[in-house]
Amino acid sequence: MLIPLWQCSHVPRTSGHPDKGLKDHYRQYFPIGVAVSPRALKSEEATLILKEFNSLTPENAMKMGPIHPQRDKYFWDQADSIVAFAKKYDLKLRGHALCWHNQAPAWFFVDAAGQKVSKQELLTRLKEHITTVVSRYKGSIYAWDVVNEVISDRPDEYLRNSPWLQICGEEFIEAAFRYAHEADPGALLFYNDYNEISPVKRARIIRLVRSLQQKGVPIHGIGLQAHWAINEPSAAQLDSTLSDFAATGLPIQITELDISVYPKEHEARNRQAADADTSFTPEKEALQRQKYREAFQLFRKYRQYITGITFWNISDRRSWLDDFPVFNRKDHPLLFDASLQRKRAYEDVISF
Ligand code: GLA
Repeated sequence: MLIPLWQCSHVPRTSGHPDKGLKDHYRQYFPIGVAVSPRALKSEEATLILKEFNSLTPENAMKMGPIHPQRDKYFWDQADSIVAFAKKYDLKLRGHALCWHNQAPAWFFVDAAGQKVSKQELLTRLKEHITTVVSRYKGSIYAWDVVNEVISDRPDEYLRNSPWLQICGEEFIEAAFRYAHEADPGALLFYNDYNEISPVKRARIIRLVRSLQQKGVPIHGIGLQAHWAINEPSAAQLDSTLSDFAATGLPIQITELDISVYPKEHEARNRQAADADTSFTPEKEALQRQKYREAFQLFRKYRQYITGITFWNISDRRSWLDDFPVFNRKDHPLLFDASLQRKRAYEDVISF
């Protein structure tokens, strides 16, 4: 009989080797990264980052809104401080994200009179944005998420009906890649999206990627966000996901990994009475451990296609999932707890 993991009293509370971090265990496989804020790099979390990870992604600092809030105003301080930290400690750095429908400032899409800009004008603005940001960090950022989340989740829609699509048609996607490549021909350029485990969404992502490849657009990789949960993906679903993406011939990166302790929900909703228990129960822990174990088993299986794994946030002290899909519902999605200690799932990830 299988004993549920949470009943195994012999499992040590402190996981892993004290002197080795995730990056060391995976040295022969892929870099292990984490999404960070400039503030985290000045806090005690910096010690954890340097011990466990060898790659960084700015969580917000390089997004269109934070870095380019007004037409003639770039705000560099936050992004610069992350770049400086990565340089100082010799960490790899991914850039995120050059073109996205969320956190794109409203000024992009309207002229001084408040009227919608033309396609030509929007492409000019996009080019200016991408050229300025990518040139500034040329040589410091080895890979960029160039275009983020343009595939639709709706049943009968291919591309998301965003202001980018409404004004430019799908041309903005390839334009973004070309502008980025012109600004830094040495950077690896990724298309990045979520819910990649859905066969329908996956097929659309692959359709987009193949169409870009056929047009000779400089695209060098596919980013799978990997915002997963205790109930999905199944091992079989993840296996076929990785296999399908590998078949494109492009390198794959896992760009935003976390495993929520709540069953997956895709839409934001209000907190209800049934959401009261936010504790990290032994049952939640066991399910999360299993998902982490399966995920890393499969990442190792597809090692020849996967060129990086990045966690989205550092520890359970704070995650974007504390407010999504349910506002103010504490989640525990990462490998380190709120005291920055390794969780038992850590052991599952490094035991191979
Ligand atoms: C998406 C984006 C990320 C981040 C997460 C939520 O996955 O790509 O930049 O905003 O949503 O934190």
